[in-house]
Amino acid sequence: MEIRDYYDVIFKRRSVKKYDQTPLDEKTLEEISNQIKSLKPLYDNIKTEVKIIPLEQVETKKKQAPHYMAVFSEPKGNYLVNTGYMLQQMDLFLSGNDIGSCWQGSPRPKEDILKNSDLEFIIVMSFGKPKKSKELHREGASDFKRKPLSEISMVKDADKIVEAARLAPSAGNSQPWFFTGDENMIHAYGSKPYAVKEHKAPKVQKYNTISIGIAIYHLHVALERFGKKAEIVSDEKARTNAPENYEYVVSLKVE
Ligand SMILES: Cc1cc2nc3c(=O)[nH]c(=O)nc-3n(C[C@H](O)[C@H](O)[C@H](O)COP(=O)(O)O)c2cc1C
Repeated sequence: MEIRDYYDVIFKRRSVKKYDQTPLDEKTLEEISNQIKSLKPLYDNIKTEVKIIPLEQVETKKKQAPHYMAVFSEPKGNYLVNTGYMLQQMDLFLSGNDIGSCWQGSPRPKEDILKNSDLEFIIVMSFGKPKKSKELHREGASDFKRKPLSEISMVKDADKIVEAARLAPSAGNSQPWFFTGDENMIHAYGSKPYAVKEHKAPKVQKYNTISIGIAIYHLHVALERFGKKAEIVSDEKARTNAPENYEYVVSLKVE
């Protein structure tokens, strides 16, 4: 399996929801497992673990896939942003190698798997061969149902970079992000849960925050493509200047 240029994959990936139930062969699973070992975290000081688990060890009713990967993390700092950032690397790796995948909010690993980790279970991603190969990729950016750039960004002189975040997947396609700043410093905000019942707010907040991590990974890939590097920082001024209905998450200092 190749590690393709993830930038190109951003413009064609899609969530695969219907799978061929035949498990992937051992060699492919081993290569996926090796790729998991090379995932880059956003924060080095947050312990994480990603485990591949077969369908039999997952509590799920619908949209079954032959395989899942489950993320476990130490629940500290921006750990949900970190989870989104890390596992999106797998989404792009799999899509770039013609394997379908989908972030999944409802399935959970069975108790045996949960009690085998000291870390907190965060989320799973399903993966396997798609039932129909035409459901693997999109034709191009116009095939994505996404908000226009003007609704999610006020960043100056960095449309090409923010475009990669615009196309990122998010829970329920809610696209809960907003970006401000300029080509040297991009500030990321997440929407506050609104129009949801109070008891649902923590869940919405959790998936929104993971989705911001996904979008930040897409920003990183685009910055790299254009020969730039980004460092993750916290900016107090940006925190206090959040756009209405959004809260500050992190900033990317671009070099
Ligand atoms: C954090 C997160 C949770 C998600 N949970 C589910 C889910 O439970 N079931 C599902 O079918 N899709 C789920 N999705 C996939 C989204 O529905 C999908 O990414 C979005 O509709 C955009 O479509 P695309 O990924 O094909 O571009 C989830 C995505 C994210 C990022």
